[in-house]
Amino acid sequence: MDIAASFCLAKANDFDNPLSLQGNAMNSQPWMAIILAAGLGTRMKSARPKVMHAVAGRPMVAHTAAAALEAHASQIACVIGPAMDEVETALAAVAPDCRFFVQADRLGTANAVLAARAALEDFPDDVLVLYGDTPLLRPATLVRLRAALEGGAALAVLGFEAVDPTGYGRLIRDETGALIAIREEQDSNPHEKAVRLCNSGLMAFRPGVALSVLDRIGNRNAKHEYYLTDAVEIARQAGLTIAVETCPEEEVMGVNDRVQLAQAEALMQARLREAAMRGGATLIAPQTVTFSYDTTLGRDVIVEPNVFFGPSVTIGDNVEIKANSYMDHCLVQAGAVVGPFARLRPGADIGPDAKIGNFVEIKKAVIEAGAKVSHLSYVGDARVGAHANLGAGTIICNYDGYRKHFTEIGAGAFIGSNSALVSPVKIGDGAYIGSGSVITRDVEPGALAVERSQQKNLPGWADKNKAKQPK
Ligand code: UD1
Ligand code: CA
Repeated sequence: MDIAASFCLAKANDFDNPLSLQGNAMNSQPWMAIILAAGLGTRMKSARPKVMHAVAGRPMVAHTAAAALEAHASQIACVIGPAMDEVETALAAVAPDCRFFVQADRLGTANAVLAARAALEDFPDDVLVLYGDTPLLRPATLVRLRAALEGGAALAVLGFEAVDPTGYGRLIRDETGALIAIREEQDSNPHEKAVRLCNSGLMAFRPGVALSVLDRIGNRNAKHEYYLTDAVEIARQAGLTIAVETCPEEEVMGVNDRVQLAQAEALMQARLREAAMRGGATLIAPQTVTFSYDTTLGRDVIVEPNVFFGPSVTIGDNVEIKANSYMDHCLVQAGAVVGPFARLRPGADIGPDAKIGNFVEIKKAVIEAGAKVSHLSYVGDARVGAHANLGAGTIICNYDGYRKHFTEIGAGAFIGSNSALVSPVKIGDGAYIGSGSVITRDVEPGALAVERSQQKNLPGWADKNKAKQPK
């Protein structure tokens, strides 16, 4: 079966996506998300754009775009820096209609939004500004922020109570509780620094408000940058209504360095593990299992400790993944047992009730129903027929140094231990291969192929040999 097609056929229950809206009331009016992703991310000390660093196997900026789409953004604009094509590539997979705008110089977050001026000028509906470095954002929070505009505000700011507010902009309110300004850390006095209500970076604008406010933002501050956060004071002076919404800190933690990246990863993993368990999987030691954002598990799956799920893994019902297994871009169908210490590489399709044992590596191969590859084997570019049995140490020699070739093993075939199958080669249904054989020619169904020199036994040889030794 074609591997791609079999992936679609898999009947694995998609466990509740922890990033999804889960039944929230939705505003059907169109809105645009502007995702800021042009920052250099100096604190990451990386050659790559900061927003391309992955959380749960997906670039941070793609998490932001996915949240916007789940909250039904009708348009997405992303502001990138010069030579940041890899962000375009990453987003193309999530949000194919995303428009990109280049911020030539990193002059601050307000300047970044204005890089998308062309998108703002002809857009008649609400605009939400999102940051590409807040990967834990939930779609429901975007829906709530928009609802604040429905409630009559011209501008809505998303804030959060920080355990440690260091590094964040502070929401400064007057004695009535109304928001009067957002003060960046470097520009705040000790009194303001003590404020724990922080700016998440997310801001929502009523139609027509964004450009008129942003065009008036200057750069008189410690960093000489055009701060998006100054929109609050300007809107206030213009007599516009400003709303503040809040959300839990973990949802909007900003990732500026590798320590925060690891913290974001830990929070995301906690969500994914919980969703897996609530979806009907048993995780014996949840804190040792690593998921990707898109891991799909069926019901009654058992995952033993120290299992790593890279991107694009689908696991069917009643599958057991034993300890210390690693897999990505693969499918494991219902009832199969994988591991311990198994490695499933891209294109591995493990059929129903098949068994993949310890120290076995499978790459781009279909292992059909009930087949067993139990110990110390490599199977690449192959089809293993139903109920075939590959003995310990079976190796498929799929590469000739230039090209990969395909091997076919028929249903019910028995491959003796320590055999090498040199591709391309075809083993017929029900055929036997003697242990230790190097098979280079096709074997017809039902035949036995043995490729090794005959065993010679020399009776009494040991004593004769001993007698020959010098005294
Ligand atoms: C920003 C906010 C701060 C808030 C914090 C939340 C400002 C001035 N400050 O600070 O109030 O508490 O986020 O995490 O907005 N970017 C550009 N172009 C630029 C500068 C930044 O596209 O010229 C992008 C970055 O890629 C990033 C986002 O804007 O995705 C935020 O920039 P960053 O430098 O991380 O801002 P913070 O200092 O964290
Ligand atoms: Ca940040």
